[in-house]
Amino acid sequence: MDKPIQIVITGASGFVAKNLRKYLSEKNVHLISISRKNFKSFKNETKVISKNYDEKSLLPKIKNSDALIHLIGIGKQSTKTDYESINFQLTQKIVNLSKNAKIKKLVYTSGLGVSSNTSIGYFISKFKAETSVIDSQINYTIFRPSYIVGKDDLFTKYLKKSIKKNKIIIPGSGKYSIQPISIDDVTKLIFQSIVNKKFNNKITDLVGSEKISFEKYVQLFLQKRKTKLCYIDIEKAYHLAISNPKFDYGVDDLNILVGNFIGDHKKLKNLSKTNFQSVKELLKTGALF
Ligand SMILES: NC(=O)c1ccc[n+]([C@@H]2O[C@H](COP(=O)([O-])OP(=O)(O)OC[C@H]3O[C@@H](n4cnc5c(N)ncnc54)[C@H](OP(=O)(O)O)[C@@H]3O)[C@@H](O)[C@H]2O)c1
Repeated sequence: MDKPIQIVITGASGFVAKNLRKYLSEKNVHLISISRKNFKSFKNETKVISKNYDEKSLLPKIKNSDALIHLIGIGKQSTKTDYESINFQLTQKIVNLSKNAKIKKLVYTSGLGVSSNTSIGYFISKFKAETSVIDSQINYTIFRPSYIVGKDDLFTKYLKKSIKKNKIIIPGSGKYSIQPISIDDVTKLIFQSIVNKKFNNKITDLVGSEKISFEKYVQLFLQKRKTKLCYIDIEKAYHLAISNPKFDYGVDDLNILVGNFIGDHKKLKNLSKTNFQSVKELLKTGALF
């Protein structure tokens, strides 16, 4: 019998990681999942708790794995955690660890809109992380996701909470677009990138087939609910994001929304030959509640 595939996952308690671990566990992949805190493990999963991803303790546990999927990332800074140290330097540390552990494949989730000529600090840290993955000489796939939709993603949780308070804030006009992709498609594509050679050493946008304005997305999410949409002037939204860390949107959430980034779905479709789930349909079914 063939040896089962062994995959390492960093940031194991996060939204994408949790859904991906469940999917891979059901596919009988052997998982080595690393998190800073304790979590409930799935079948075929070895749980590793590591506060600082220290190489000495991790290397023997992950040696010779078939792949490492790096899912650590932050989208908001504070004086305690910043983009340079988490998005870039920690990625560099994981890349070095992967080289020393002779990992065969690296998968990294960057961000839609990342490019060499970006001026946004968040994207710059992701670009530097991408470069460190590419320079590793390890076979890689880099995904640049738009908004990933699931029952338990941060924005879905925000919308559900806002419905209870009968008020959803829409920054500016809400006319800027997103290109959401369902978490079920994302987990399939990440697995495919490991087993399908066509994904080797490629950077690809991770986007769904539909471009939807932010305002429309919220309306579709609400279905027939009468929750109040509260449009706030974009200058006011930025002011609140800058001055109040508890405001519904962070500065870079606003940058990404207003940035109106659209990806290349066709390329992803050609690469994967998958039928993508329609996020509009998903919203209509109410499956996110
Ligand atoms: N979800 C989206 O729509 C989306 C869109 C574009 C890009 N992405 C990227 O995809 C990746 C996964 O996204 P996600 O939505 O799953 O994010 P998430 O739920 O916020 O999970 C990220 C994980 O990163 C780890 N982490 C955060 N701060 C850390 C720190 N200081 N030190 C060590 N680990 C830390 C945490 O893992 P533990 O708690 O297990 O330690 C956390 O659960 C991220 O890189 C994100 O930027 C996501």
